Amino acid sequence: MKATAFAPVNVALIKYWGKRDEKLRLPVNSSLSVNLTKMGTVTTVAWVKGLKQDEADERMIKHLDRIRGLAKINFKAKVVTQNNFPVAAGLSSSASGFAALTLAATAAAGLKMSEKELSRLARLGSGSACRSIPNGWVEWVKGKDDFTSYAKTIFPTRHWDLRILVVILSQQEKKVSSTDGQELAKTSAFFKERVKGIDQKIIKIKQAIKEKNFREIGVIMEEDCLNMHAVMLTSQPSLIYWLPETVRVIQAIREWREQGLESYFTINTGQNVFVFCEPNNEDQLVDKLSHLRGVIEVRRERVGLGARLLA
Ligand code: DP6
Repeated sequence: MKATAFAPVNVALIKYWGKRDEKLRLPVNSSLSVNLTKMGTVTTVAWVKGLKQDEADERMIKHLDRIRGLAKINFKAKVVTQNNFPVAAGLSSSASGFAALTLAATAAAGLKMSEKELSRLARLGSGSACRSIPNGWVEWVKGKDDFTSYAKTIFPTRHWDLRILVVILSQQEKKVSSTDGQELAKTSAFFKERVKGIDQKIIKIKQAIKEKNFREIGVIMEEDCLNMHAVMLTSQPSLIYWLPETVRVIQAIREWREQGLESYFTINTGQNVFVFCEPNNEDQLVDKLSHLRGVIEVRRERVGLGARLLA
């Protein structure tokens, strides 16, 4: 009764920010993301007869309870989990973490689940985790209820060879988690305004991905990122996840773009920046980004597969 799974970090081009049901983690809007190839979480779950307590943190234990209910078992679990990137700094550790936990814990319990069921279950652990289950380019359709809110592949991994550079600025952990931050979303006067435009943005960005129109996806992605951060900035209390270095990266990307070196950014709940570019500009961008003050590391990523079992 043991299994190990890997789940990737996913980067949202259209973000999830705000829940219409906090317990079920039903989002106010649909969202769209890509999985990364390398960055992610490896989790091993062993259901152990006679074990007195789960060896996992509180939020994971809640998720294990859901899986115990589905599998009709009452064993406790040993969970060993490892991220290959700095946690809780806006690189989506809860997405890869809960996707890997969902896959490992259900497989170890002998449950046979479809991708849709796994995605839905991962969503209950952390909303964005549902997008780390399917492969490649993924859409999380907000759905009508618990059973219709899950993520699916909209384009396969090989559809388009875009590159994603992960610009790591500091190893600091953020002060307000995504879950706590999202609870404040509706206190922003801009929240409704952002949500109003999202369905249209999703239609447009899907068409741009289909046509491989890099400029179009970049513009829509940056706009939605800035809209989400505008909601954060104007929440009560206000949330500022950026560091001065974050703004430096934003400014540099815009300046280089004006000079003809094209790339677009997006940022989650933290200081780090994801930069999307085409393969021919990757080396030059890595070089330039690495030389900016405050940049600790630049990782090279591509569009990758979803969660999978390793053992
Ligand atoms: C800014 O999925 O971490 O990364 O459902 O409360 O666990 P919970 O929130 P979480 O929020 C992710 C927020 C985001 C945007 C995104 O990935 O879509």
